[in-house]
Amino acid sequence: MLDFLGDLKRSHMCGALRPSDAGKKAVLMGWVNRRRDLGSIIFIDLRDRTGVTQVVFNRELNPKAHDKANHLRNEYVIAVIGTVKRRDADTINKNIPTGEVELMVDEIRLLNESKQPPFLPSETVLPNEEMRLKYRYIDLRREPMQFNIEMRHKVSKAIRDYLSAEGFFEIETPFMTRSTPEGARDYLVPSRVQPGSFYALPQSPQMFKQILMISGFDKYFQIVRCFRDEDFRADRQAEFTQIDLEMTYPQQQTVWNVVEGFLTAAFKAAGHEIKTPFPRMSYDEAIRRYGNDKPDLRLPAMIDAREALTPEEWDDLATKFRMRKEFLLQLIRIPKAGDISGTERRTIGTYGAYQHVQGPSFVQLMTDPKRFAKDYPWLSDKILSFAAIEPDDLWLLAGAATRPENAAVMDQSIQHFCEKCGFLRLDLAQKYAAKHKAFEKTGDTARDFRFLWVSDFPMFEWDKTEKRWNPAHHPFTSLHEEDMAKLEANIDSVHDPKSPLGEIRALAYDVVLNGTELGSGSIRIHRQDIQRKIFQALGMSDEEARARFGFFLEALEYGTPPHGGIALGLDRIVMILAGAESLREVIPFPKTARAVDLMVDAPTPVSEAQLKELGIQVRKVSGD
Ligand code: AMO
Repeated sequence: MLDFLGDLKRSHMCGALRPSDAGKKAVLMGWVNRRRDLGSIIFIDLRDRTGVTQVVFNRELNPKAHDKANHLRNEYVIAVIGTVKRRDADTINKNIPTGEVELMVDEIRLLNESKQPPFLPSETVLPNEEMRLKYRYIDLRREPMQFNIEMRHKVSKAIRDYLSAEGFFEIETPFMTRSTPEGARDYLVPSRVQPGSFYALPQSPQMFKQILMISGFDKYFQIVRCFRDEDFRADRQAEFTQIDLEMTYPQQQTVWNVVEGFLTAAFKAAGHEIKTPFPRMSYDEAIRRYGNDKPDLRLPAMIDAREALTPEEWDDLATKFRMRKEFLLQLIRIPKAGDISGTERRTIGTYGAYQHVQGPSFVQLMTDPKRFAKDYPWLSDKILSFAAIEPDDLWLLAGAATRPENAAVMDQSIQHFCEKCGFLRLDLAQKYAAKHKAFEKTGDTARDFRFLWVSDFPMFEWDKTEKRWNPAHHPFTSLHEEDMAKLEANIDSVHDPKSPLGEIRALAYDVVLNGTELGSGSIRIHRQDIQRKIFQALGMSDEEARARFGFFLEALEYGTPPHGGIALGLDRIVMILAGAESLREVIPFPKTARAVDLMVDAPTPVSEAQLKELGIQVRKVSGD
């Protein structure tokens, strides 16, 4: 028989009672986490968001309550009224904050029963993820999930408070809008009143936030949902949340200061101190030294072996490897990989050479300094000392017969080679994570937060499939003033892969944490004449530009102040803080890799009547 709550008020949360409360009356409410029946005494661990308290039913002292407790099962919801008692020294539970007390129950109200759940929140062994997502309400009761969601709240609040105090206004922008310039696929919403027309859900509030600058709001932010139909990975969701901001009259540094400020506040709210200012690196340097544009600074950079050698030694090396003199040699070091057997070593060599690093002409694994010293006596000391190699490090050399260029801008083949080496470096690091610990998601190295600003991204990137230059960030990004002449000189070369368009640097930047891109932003183009040139360089006619972004281009003509901003992925920040492997661990109701919500079972087909009203006919897709 269920009881009513009536006017009973909760006096404490389940994680609140302490020895100083001994002797007090208390009313607790929560779920039955665990029940232990010792015959005349029944113990219940009562749980809510804040923790668990042991409540005690004693048959001798209170037979009625004890009898009722006999019927309690996992996840039943109860209210208990009783007296707080200090536990005897030998029954203290040091693992929980309430472990020194228990509640001696006078009265119990059974507020609700529960079916046997498919898994219990208290279980340490997790069911498969599909089960967790289908029964998300049970999964969210688990302590780690409660922790993550609470942390998400604290982090968002800290960011909101910080930005509000800095004079940013939180302003909402529409969800039902039109295509935005981020370049993923849109989610579309059909219009009933204009059959055949569709809204697009925003991939970001990019154009709206720029319009808010044109509208004089000076500093805007929003913690906002964005929607992108793209291929999903552990760090991508169809719906995700950005900390989006924009400001007037900034230099890049102005935006960076704001971001460093709110990240300091956010990490503090999660219990971590971080150091500012973050280090900086150009895109070119990131590619050359880390092989990607989001370097993980917890691992050493790759070393271009030429840096360690004189030109004569370099020539000698080239002869030994029977390579042209103009080749590249990268040294990759994974620290503290420990002992690696001969077989394992050979596997790594093959694995690197044939599966992942097709760019380089060879990959030579050198885990054994002694052997290296024997084969290349003149080289070993130099390289070993330059790279600060320790005996239990894993390291290898990757070479390629690529022509190095001294030009400020990287030759594409060098970039390709460096990127391949970068993949190999990360692959090996992940494979040997257990040994060298640099890639652990939890533990000391995961708490080693290595932030970085990467700047001076290229303005345009060559699209091999479409055989044309596309914007590397989005088409509203400013270029370096000194590159203006280069833009003008090459404005009609969108289909030329060799065009110096590839050398133009953008005032675009990313903030990176431990190898993950947290956010991207740029100083925007605020002048209509420059915006038009960018569209021209992208091969977009005036008509085409007007059709896609007409309202925005018109707005630019009404006294647009210089402005710039950035957006950071909130989910990614919380994922890293939580030491989680996937965004799904920090989003209450996430979607699977196939963009399905298993709990509500979405997406679903809709009725004929709904489709008719929208003027939509669904075509059978082959394979149905
Ligand atoms: P961008 O497209 O780089 O820039 O996105 C900014 C940040 O948003 C996060 N993010 C995602 N997180 C989870 N799932 C996804 N599918 C996903 N896509 C992006 C990342 C990323 O760094 N309007 C510009 C910003 C600007 O220029 O101000 C933009 O959206 O953390």
